[in-house]
Amino acid sequence: MSKSFLSIEQLTQRYPDGQGGEFTVFENASFGIEKGEFVCILGHSGCGKSTIMNILAGLSDPTSGVVKMDGFEVSGPSLDRGVVFQNYSLLPWLSALKNVTFGVAARFPQWDKAKVIAHSTAFLAKVGLSGDTIHRKPSQLSGGMRQRVSIARAFANEPKLLLLDEPFGALDALTRGTIQDELIKVWSDTDQTVFMITHDIDEAILLADRILLMTNGPMAQVAESVEITIPRPRNRTSIVEHPNYYAIRNHLVQFLGKRSSELSGQSGDNNRPINVRIDLTGDADTDDPDPAPLLRAVEG
Ligand SMILES: Nc1ncnc2c1ncn2[C@@H]1O[C@H](COP(=O)(O)OP(=O)(O)OP(=O)(O)O)[C@@H](O)[C@H]1O
Ligand SMILES: [Mg+2]
Repeated sequence: MSKSFLSIEQLTQRYPDGQGGEFTVFENASFGIEKGEFVCILGHSGCGKSTIMNILAGLSDPTSGVVKMDGFEVSGPSLDRGVVFQNYSLLPWLSALKNVTFGVAARFPQWDKAKVIAHSTAFLAKVGLSGDTIHRKPSQLSGGMRQRVSIARAFANEPKLLLLDEPFGALDALTRGTIQDELIKVWSDTDQTVFMITHDIDEAILLADRILLMTNGPMAQVAESVEITIPRPRNRTSIVEHPNYYAIRNHLVQFLGKRSSELSGQSGDNNRPINVRIDLTGDADTDDPDPAPLLRAVEG
């Protein structure tokens, strides 16, 4: 596990509780993410998801523990790690295009202006933005368009790790669906590793290779790593017909509804998530008309 592309080791975060003491958000959390993986994290509000992400981004330091990317300890923000927040965070005085070229020019200083513009325009096109739109400022764009610019900007920088904190939280369901598709398209075209926070179970199943489940805080832990055993390409309308879909979904709902609170506060010395693999498809080669469903939970 320590050889993972991204390795989170014994991460602990404590904050002052405002009454002279302190409270533990999470303790000794350890998990890994492989290169090119798309990992979502689900957990109730306040369990510490954004705290983990801010540490991965290098925007804040944990109380103890280390994060290593490609074998090197993460310290401080870097162009190797791109972040997309829920609230767009575009530079308001720059056009959509310039919001993208700004980072690309910093990331690839050897490129001339024409190459920077061509590269940025191509990434904006991947998320459905072209023509006059890309010359508008953020205040002249809709919420969905702004979030598309944020995603294009993050991917155009070609970071080794992309961190997304509820990037679609403020969007209506239709726009959300379109941008989810665009995100998957951009991700499949690149070799980027994505770590994404979401509150939306269906979004997580559609997008992720693996879903990490967090128990409730304080003393939260990353309790399970659920493999999404549904082949790609996935499509929001047909995915529900896959035999594993509802089995996985029910497992996630059960966790968030029940076990996230039951397991809360149970912290150990080295909290690695249990690997859960749910596969009801059975053996494709078998002639048995009613094969016994496979339901495996394997200790990681
Ligand atoms: N700078 C800080 N100082 C003190 N407490 C903090 C600080 N940042 C976060 N917390 C606390 O840490 C806990 C985890 O916060 P965090 O923002 O990581 O939760 P979250 O899982 O992202 O929640 P949400 O789903 O609502 O975004 C909360 O109890 C929060 O109040
Ligand atoms: Mg958060």
